Amino acid sequence: MENGFTRREAMTAAGAAATLGFLSSFLATEALAQHPQAGGGTFVHKLPPLPYPEDALEPVIDKETVKIHYEKHFAAYVAGLNTALENLEKARASGQFDAVKGLSRDLAFNGSGVVLHWIYFTTIGPKAGGAPAGLMADMIKRDFGSFEAFWKQFAAASKTVEGSGWGVLAWEPFSKRLVVLQAEKHQNLTSWGAMPLMVCDVWEHAYYLKYQNRRPEYVENFAKIIDWKKVEERYAQFCAAK
Ligand SMILES: [Fe+2]
Repeated sequence: MENGFTRREAMTAAGAAATLGFLSSFLATEALAQHPQAGGGTFVHKLPPLPYPEDALEPVIDKETVKIHYEKHFAAYVAGLNTALENLEKARASGQFDAVKGLSRDLAFNGSGVVLHWIYFTTIGPKAGGAPAGLMADMIKRDFGSFEAFWKQFAAASKTVEGSGWGVLAWEPFSKRLVVLQAEKHQNLTSWGAMPLMVCDVWEHAYYLKYQNRRPEYVENFAKIIDWKKVEERYAQFCAAK
């Protein structure tokens, strides 16, 4: 299934390479690979289920924001990704690639939006927050000096994204280190090859109802709902040993 996606899309455009790299791994997960399509053809993505009630993140993120964010915004990226994949399949069938530049952009934007929202919603939860323990604690201390230093960098990066985007904790296989990145929109400023482990959505739709223009307050409160066990599970699932 994941091979089907990679095989079919990997050659569409160099600009989508990072997204495809992420997706080829993430599609193997239960969240996005819940609809086996072993028969081939363009992979049809579906919105994975929200793993907790819409009000479970109160009071950090209100129910209405979660509802709109998940059912409207996340769903729109899933639909946009499917449309891009469909149009690319049509282009291959016709041999007409006049629109490939725009389609490649749509693929990268919506594909990255799907991956990042999936990570976002499955890496936060009720009864979470605080500092990590175990392997994640050790790795963060090794790569950032201390959890406090890591959080200051992550929070600063999230607060200062220019426009809409993300703060990202990622695993970089090349250096075998954790890195903190900013992403503008969903796909700009990313470091190709880095695997996102934990992300903070700083698009206004993620916090505006409750926090309005107070993004820093939202980012600081975000620490209360990060589920570090999930972060470690993701690292163990997708990344090489440290
Ligand atoms: Fe979002």
